[in-house]
Amino acid sequence: MNQAAPRTPQALDIEQVRRDFPALNQSVNGKPLVYLDNAASAQKPQAVLDAMDQYYRESHSNVHRGAHTLGDRATMAFEGARDTVRGFLNANSISEIVWVRGATEGINLIANGFYDRLGPEDEILISHMEHHANIVPWQMLAQKTGATLKVIAVTDEGELDQDSFREQLSERTAVFAITQVSNTLGTINPVTEMVAAAKEAGAFTVVDGAQAVPHMSVDVQALGCDFLVFSSHKVFGPTGIGVVYGREELMHEWPVYQTGGEMIHRVSFEGTSFQNSPYRFEAGTPAIAEAVGLGEAIRYLDGLGRDAIEAAEKTLQQRVNEWTADFPGLHPIGTSSNKVPVLSFTLDGLHPSDVGTLLDQQGVAIRTGHHCTMPLMERFGVPGTARASFAFYNTVEEVDTFFQGLQKIQRLFAE
Ligand SMILES: Cc1ncc(COP(=O)(O)O)c(C=O)c1O
Repeated sequence: MNQAAPRTPQALDIEQVRRDFPALNQSVNGKPLVYLDNAASAQKPQAVLDAMDQYYRESHSNVHRGAHTLGDRATMAFEGARDTVRGFLNANSISEIVWVRGATEGINLIANGFYDRLGPEDEILISHMEHHANIVPWQMLAQKTGATLKVIAVTDEGELDQDSFREQLSERTAVFAITQVSNTLGTINPVTEMVAAAKEAGAFTVVDGAQAVPHMSVDVQALGCDFLVFSSHKVFGPTGIGVVYGREELMHEWPVYQTGGEMIHRVSFEGTSFQNSPYRFEAGTPAIAEAVGLGEAIRYLDGLGRDAIEAAEKTLQQRVNEWTADFPGLHPIGTSSNKVPVLSFTLDGLHPSDVGTLLDQQGVAIRTGHHCTMPLMERFGVPGTARASFAFYNTVEEVDTFFQGLQKIQRLFAE
């Protein structure tokens, strides 16, 4: 019998990979740049820059309307990128893939569809670790419809409290909206199981995949969710574009979000009918070059291999763990054993923004503040944290440089 050998992921040649990212190969403040702000926005490979450049040089026109060759080329590139995203998420059909500006706009588009569906008897269930983008649209919806916003508690380790989830999930839960990975803590949530329970209770399910897609394969069919959103710029694509995945049965009927050109079927002064999904949600001229860039970013990731990316990130996480296991004065926030390489922390006697500024002087870029998770900061009793967030193109030496940088800062303040 001819059995296929088990596939072992080819380890990434990190130095080679780094040459693909022009922004990584520069000095900042006289020091080689160590870019550890990937959860905020990731750097772009040359392939993405080239694809966008080539699109503008050779194929640019408006989409879906050209009676000419460039119009056809632009439409092919734009719709081809949509199909690439469909494959990336393992969605069934391109009707399920809507272009938006990013995860934030995506959640607003989904929430907008609930304004006529919810009433005072309904509940919306989110968690204490959500990004503001997955809090405020639901809060507005609750205020407008009289529905109640319920919040799943977070444990001291920075995991979702499953007892709190079970206690609050009921047949009143109309919407369950949850992040797959926490941008602040790095925690990977057991979203598949929670989505299944929420569906069983009769809720619509929304997954914020913004921090998951850069780190792991996300399969919407395996997740079983009704909706999922992500932003291109966190997954090594350009800014200005993101994606809503929505199950096809829902999407053709989902209330339109913005109205105008392109999204209509027929317009008269008596009334207007709309296209099917995805076009019913895409009013006006879309971000064409950005879609092309995102498609290329996905191809680039596929070329590296998701397994190889995950293996490289595990190595980084291990190195971070070795350092934090014995680092006097450093307090990690979010200590789940199931996390992506994100380290939020405080340093005794130092304000997070000072830590950020002093690291920047050493060429190390991190983010400081509340990370758009103010309720989570309150939960942990801190006004903000310093956050180092890693991507597959970071090296173990960069992890060391970062922690040695923190040691230098501590020494400076001890004097
Ligand atoms: C978990 C999560 N959700 C949503 C967003 C919002 O993404 P964007 O600002 O690209 O719309 C972010 C951005 O940091 C995020 O980390």
